[in-house]
Amino acid sequence: MANKQANLDLGETEQTFPILEGSCGPDVVDIRKLYGATGKFTYDPGYKSTASCESALTFIDGEEGVLLHRGYPIGQLAESSSFMEVAYLLLNGELPSADELDDFDNTITRHTMVHDQLRQFYQGFRRDAHPMAIMCGVVGALSAFYHDSTDISDPEHRKISSHRLIAKMPTIAAMAYKYSIGQPFLPPQNSLSYTGNFLRMTFGVPAEEYEVIPAVEKAMDRIFILHADHEQNASTSTVRLAGSSGANPFACMAAGIACLWGPAHGGANEAALNMLQEIGTPDRIQHYIERAKDKNDPFRLMGFGHRVYKNYDPRATVMQKTVREVFEALNVKDPVFETALQLEEIALNDDYFAEKKLFPNVDFYSGIILSAIGFPTTMFTALFALARTVGWVAQWNEMISDPAQVIGRPRQLYTGPTQRDYVPIEQR
Ligand code: CMC
Repeated sequence: MANKQANLDLGETEQTFPILEGSCGPDVVDIRKLYGATGKFTYDPGYKSTASCESALTFIDGEEGVLLHRGYPIGQLAESSSFMEVAYLLLNGELPSADELDDFDNTITRHTMVHDQLRQFYQGFRRDAHPMAIMCGVVGALSAFYHDSTDISDPEHRKISSHRLIAKMPTIAAMAYKYSIGQPFLPPQNSLSYTGNFLRMTFGVPAEEYEVIPAVEKAMDRIFILHADHEQNASTSTVRLAGSSGANPFACMAAGIACLWGPAHGGANEAALNMLQEIGTPDRIQHYIERAKDKNDPFRLMGFGHRVYKNYDPRATVMQKTVREVFEALNVKDPVFETALQLEEIALNDDYFAEKKLFPNVDFYSGIILSAIGFPTTMFTALFALARTVGWVAQWNEMISDPAQVIGRPRQLYTGPTQRDYVPIEQR
């Protein structure tokens, strides 16, 4: 597979390592034999230069602002596809035929109900619990309810648990919301689309019919597409690492949800909207720009910057367009959007942001749309988790099916005390 080689000169020894070529993107130096050959590890906190796996799902060119799922550009998928189609694509590698999509959609729809006893889990949480706290707990608990699909060595089990996770996530997220506002849970309704059903379970009440607004359903579906997968990000790597030990997929997804919750990752959309609301009016923008640039101030412009994109995040472009569509459909005017547009313009023309290649990411505009649709900020990350479940499940399946897969076990540069003798407490 590898013709090119890299030489590593360690003074006393020189070692040669194969260079592997992917279909797109940088080549990788295969250092799997480094420790055995040299007794040395590599040091790469945050994995800024480390490819942890081989994957055929998603490709990002951060310099050019390109995102492809199985080769298809995100802009085309967001414009012309549906979340169910993208889920099929990520899971199976190819776009479905009309019959295949119908079958898949039908299967997912018929898995949307949750075990009735799972409802009681919700009662154990405080009403003001963060939806992500509930999601972590409830998704982890799924493995206690669906024993019949936790044998990860059985491809049929893997398929069923994948379908269950994708199908039940909207129900679980909607229930977390309903619980927080003290309204009864609404069961799924099979006549609705995946996204329409989620909107009804979230905003509907048993006392009256819920009418799905097509423009909102489309915008929500698009937001799900934009969040479906994103290569080896922190939560996906967490899912893979948890799964590498053979843990069941429900437990792995709970691990992914926990990682996604952080403000540097999935929590950024909540933080971005909070920040925009705090800024309030355009005349206060400059003050926050100065704060973001101040080394002694921990404040960062939320929704700005990305580990991989050193150009405009292609998802942010679609998001900005979607804000306008939703506002038009709902006849909403939100001054926060104006503030966001002006903040973006000021930041993009500022040397600090230009030099560090900091551009708006997917989260800069998503909160504005979600808020217009009616979601409280605490639900934003739960929606991200719902959509990203597709990517987590697809990546987890890819990993389990890979014969090269072994348990993930990074090494370290130890800087603690060297060996010393225990001192009895009375002598300390
Ligand atoms: N505002 C101000 N300065 C920033 C920002 C920001 N949003 N992001 C990075 N910087 C500066 C940072 O201070 C550092 O400066 P210096 O080189 O002088 O120390 C430099 O840019 C590089 O930053 P970094 O933290 O080393 O870069 P990273 O690749 O490790 O971090 C990031 C990427 C996304 C964590 C970071 O840009 C950030 O904290 N952004 C705000 C949070 C956010 O919007 N996260 C959503 C990410 S997209 C959704 C997802 O995939 O989950």
